[in-house]
Amino acid sequence: MRTSLLSLAACALAFASCGALADNGPLVIKFAHVVADNTPKGQGALMFKQLVEERLPGEVRVEVYPNSSLYGDADELEALRNNDVQMLAPSLAKFEQYTKQLQVFDLPFLFDDLEAVNRFQKRAKGRQLLRSMEKHNIVGLAYWHNGMKQLSATRALQVPSDAAGLTFRIQPSAVLDAQFSQLGATPLKLPFKEVFGALQSGKVQGAENPWSNIYSQKLHSVQPYITETNHGVLDYMLVSNSRFWYAIPHQIRTELEGIIDEVTYAVNRQAEEANQADRRRIESAGTSTVITLTAEQREAWRAAMRPVWQQFEADIGADVMSAAQTVNRKKRD
Ligand code: LMR
Repeated sequence: MRTSLLSLAACALAFASCGALADNGPLVIKFAHVVADNTPKGQGALMFKQLVEERLPGEVRVEVYPNSSLYGDADELEALRNNDVQMLAPSLAKFEQYTKQLQVFDLPFLFDDLEAVNRFQKRAKGRQLLRSMEKHNIVGLAYWHNGMKQLSATRALQVPSDAAGLTFRIQPSAVLDAQFSQLGATPLKLPFKEVFGALQSGKVQGAENPWSNIYSQKLHSVQPYITETNHGVLDYMLVSNSRFWYAIPHQIRTELEGIIDEVTYAVNRQAEEANQADRRRIESAGTSTVITLTAEQREAWRAAMRPVWQQFEADIGADVMSAAQTVNRKKRD
């Protein structure tokens, strides 16, 4: 496929720079993220680059910047809105400034498992949330899974009261703040790239992450206990700058959307297995005790965190909340 001069001119007119569209050169998409290459998101970004360069050679070039090497949690969304970077996949906990509706994903024990999350993301309400930030010039292109979160700490967390008095690193989310406060713990918002250092120095004593983030950041080497709570989800929204995205010539954008569908399918199919493989690696490393909970123990954690839902229902919206509650297979209150 060749980009016509006309469509490039339209692109240039519609949006002064059309991303990093050099004169007669390829359209450059900078894709920045905060995790390692060997994670579901890291692999997704690399697969996107590979497919784009196979299918749109000379027309689109993708540059991937992992590990907060270009932008990190503090500045990546602002950089996207300024078109200094064209693609990101922040965790759904990081959009609070732009929409409160996505807070639904942070509510503890709302989704029973990743399958339930998947169902919600595929249904009308979930799809609608991809468009919830367009007035801020952010367009959601897809949901990518990482996985369910586990609690890690310097002490064994068997029952909810074990968390009291500890400081936990959290993502910048009011829901997660309330979740740890509810346990009598102290939440501390820190960028992802500071998590290892904060745990190592003792600035915080605990955290919550999927297995893939724990393993790839070596958090298990500084967290002697990890409790398999699966209490919440850490997933991503693949986003672009709306003005940039809609100014891409139609044929190229259609091709990019097809590639995104393919990558999304691959990321979401492999994420759970990748997390389980990292769980096994963590156990083999022998640095942490992995604590599993009985159904009754897990229910106690659910009961302790569940009051958080009420605090956020008005902001999230009753429609979004009730759509999310229909996706679990098991019926409960
Ligand atoms: C975190 O900050 O813990 C995560 O959002 C990092 C990530 O992108 O998985």
